[in-house]
Amino acid sequence: MSVIKVINENSLNWYLKYIGFPLAVGLTMFRICSQSTNRRRRAALEGKVVVITGASSGIGEALAHIFYEYGCKVILASRRKTELERVKEDLLSKKLSSKTEEPIVLELDLADLRQCEPFVKNIYDACGHIDILINNGGVSHRGSILYTTLEVDKKIMYTNYFGSVGLTKAVLPKMADRKSGHVVFISSVQGLIALPDRSAYAASKFALQAFADSLRSEMHQHNIDVSVVSPGYVKTSVSLNALTASGENHGVMDKSTAAGFTSEYVAIKILDMVVNKDKELVVSQFLPNLAIFIRHSFPSLYFWIMARRANKTNFT
Ligand SMILES: NC(=O)c1ccc[n+]([C@@H]2O[C@H](COP(=O)([O-])OP(=O)(O)OC[C@H]3O[C@@H](n4cnc5c(N)ncnc54)[C@H](OP(=O)(O)O)[C@@H]3O)[C@@H](O)[C@H]2O)c1
Ligand SMILES: *[C@@H]1O[C@H](CO)[C@@H](O)[C@H](O)[C@H]1NC(C)=O
Repeated sequence: MSVIKVINENSLNWYLKYIGFPLAVGLTMFRICSQSTNRRRRAALEGKVVVITGASSGIGEALAHIFYEYGCKVILASRRKTELERVKEDLLSKKLSSKTEEPIVLELDLADLRQCEPFVKNIYDACGHIDILINNGGVSHRGSILYTTLEVDKKIMYTNYFGSVGLTKAVLPKMADRKSGHVVFISSVQGLIALPDRSAYAASKFALQAFADSLRSEMHQHNIDVSVVSPGYVKTSVSLNALTASGENHGVMDKSTAAGFTSEYVAIKILDMVVNKDKELVVSQFLPNLAIFIRHSFPSLYFWIMARRANKTNFT
């Protein structure tokens, strides 16, 4: 009996000394760190007016949740008003410790550039100004260049590129007057490397990266921040909603997309990028990162791999 007791006592001491105590210290440190992260986020974001395009689904919906949770007044924009209303209801049903202003739902078709100015004016009428514009709404492409109609190229370029540029131009004058503002572009790893069968998409995202780099340099003197996010694979409806060569919905959940990061994971990374005013963020898996490296360091190898990939998939 006493032998067992001694062992038990010893092992209890051992446990406390080598596991229990360090664990408690670790947990406390973790709690202190995450509390200060939360405080920092809230201090940077509370009360800010944040416009999120493409807020009806995927990454934009997750962004709406997280910016709302940190006290922002969020403006939810996209074409499908009923989906935006659903997101708004989800936000309002959250139990938050502090009061957050009610989200605003606004219909917007990025492909129709005439909507940009009145859209922004609506927000000024309701909120007075815009602190953060997140250009997130977008559509992907699945089709070879040989078969893709020029209409599809235009539709994707208008939605992903001109729509974001139009909105950005509409918000800049007031941001420059106030000497404060932040414009965020959700590009893609495909804004850094182009894959076969997604030409229109890659082109639109490359264009965004270039526009953003020019914009950042010009806006520095006006104290306006510009950030670009390049996500790898994220588990959203992006491949389902992608346009085919003839402009139909692709309607297929790609395996790589299904295995991607959650929207929530990407959204919190984007939120921290905004809080830290970082200029660039690549949120990506190992393979896309490797592909970026190969494209820049061994271009011939990249071209060879992509030609094989294009021949294998044989998209129409
Ligand atoms: N998922 C990924 O793997 C991935 C990777 C890199 C980058 N991205 C980028 O992340 C952004 C969000 O995409 P997601 O993955 O969240 O896909 P998603 O679930 O398909 O969401 C796309 C969003 O864009 C909106 N949208 C599409 N066309 C629009 C238009 N003409 N006008 C206004 N809004 C429009 C959609 O809303 P409505 O249909 O209601 O208009 C929807 O809210 C896109 O720019 C995408 O290119 C995604
Ligand atoms: C393309 O793929 C086909 C079979 O799918 C193959 O026979 C052909 O050799 C490939 N061509 C090249 C250039 O790789």
